[in-house]
Amino acid sequence: MNILAVESSCDETAVAIVRDGREVLCDCIASQVALHREYGGVVPEIASRKHIEAIYGLADQALRETGLTRQDIDAVAVTYAPGLIGAVLVGVNFAKAAALAMNKPLIPVHHIRGHIAANYIACPELKPPFLCLVVSGGHTMLLNVKDYTDMELLGTTLDDAAGECFDKVGRVLGMPYPGGAAVDKAAQQGDENKYVLPRSKPGENPYNMSFSGLKTAALNLIHHAEQVGEQIDIPSLCAGFTAAVSDTLVPRVVRAIEETGCKKIAVAGGVAANSRIRGDLLAAAEKLGAEVFMPPLKLCGDNAAMIGAQAYYEYLAGNVADMSLNAYATKSILGEKV
Ligand code: KG4
Ligand code: ZN
Repeated sequence: MNILAVESSCDETAVAIVRDGREVLCDCIASQVALHREYGGVVPEIASRKHIEAIYGLADQALRETGLTRQDIDAVAVTYAPGLIGAVLVGVNFAKAAALAMNKPLIPVHHIRGHIAANYIACPELKPPFLCLVVSGGHTMLLNVKDYTDMELLGTTLDDAAGECFDKVGRVLGMPYPGGAAVDKAAQQGDENKYVLPRSKPGENPYNMSFSGLKTAALNLIHHAEQVGEQIDIPSLCAGFTAAVSDTLVPRVVRAIEETGCKKIAVAGGVAANSRIRGDLLAAAEKLGAEVFMPPLKLCGDNAAMIGAQAYYEYLAGNVADMSLNAYATKSILGEKV
């Protein structure tokens, strides 16, 4: 089954064609990151306009690259939530029009389910059940993926997402948006013990997390140094910050492995590209005899291939939409029918 998949929830416009959930025939992306960099973050109105400009060309490019025709497409899939509402709407309207014109089923896909599905592309042997740590710019959660469309939320951030904090710290340090990758790179040269930053303590739900205290502590440290004319050791601050994020995430994953007895852990979302978090997870999993699945960096960020992969399983579960499909800025990942 060839699925034409569309993603436009943030600052990447993407169209992919994916066969049977696992085989990526093409993965076309038009990134707007450079455009938003000037403003230090995504400007929603600009994002929506750029999606409109790019999306038709990308769909043509996808067909051209694969040599497929419209008749070879069996369904159209789209990210319908969560994301910047104007941006998501562009993809949803394009997908509705394409599905209507080609008379094919329309499959709505939750963006975070897509991030999880990036692992199906990268690891053909991976099948549910498995645990998944989702760490993106807007979401941080630990899930028990019982089946392709049946998930249990073990814990989530109570405030900021891990990626958002990386970006904020990067911005205050004068790094280009999005700061996560630059903070990661700088951290590799730093001394993580030079600045000790707080770790979120387990609360009532030991899987829940909090990052706003850590973010505020890091920002206060930087601002205080500026005020008293002290030079911040940027690599060491980045190393201390990254260590604190990892020390918040990894023990919760360890606990989930121990409590559920599930020895498969997948990682998803842009922050999954972080070298320190990857290293810590691999080391912790090895001690527990657990297997870690990590998509390559290219599949960690936003792309449409992951949407096409998850769409196949949504389709098999009967999750198809009609022309009344709407876009949503927020929506639970726990599968109510659209
Ligand atoms: O999943 P994603 O592409 O977009 C969302 O759906 O949010 O994630 C983007 C996030 C940004 O916050 C970016 O700074 C972060 O992923 N990121 C990283 C790294 N590469 C990207 N964070 C830490 N270390 C990295 N190497
Ligand atoms: Zn994303």
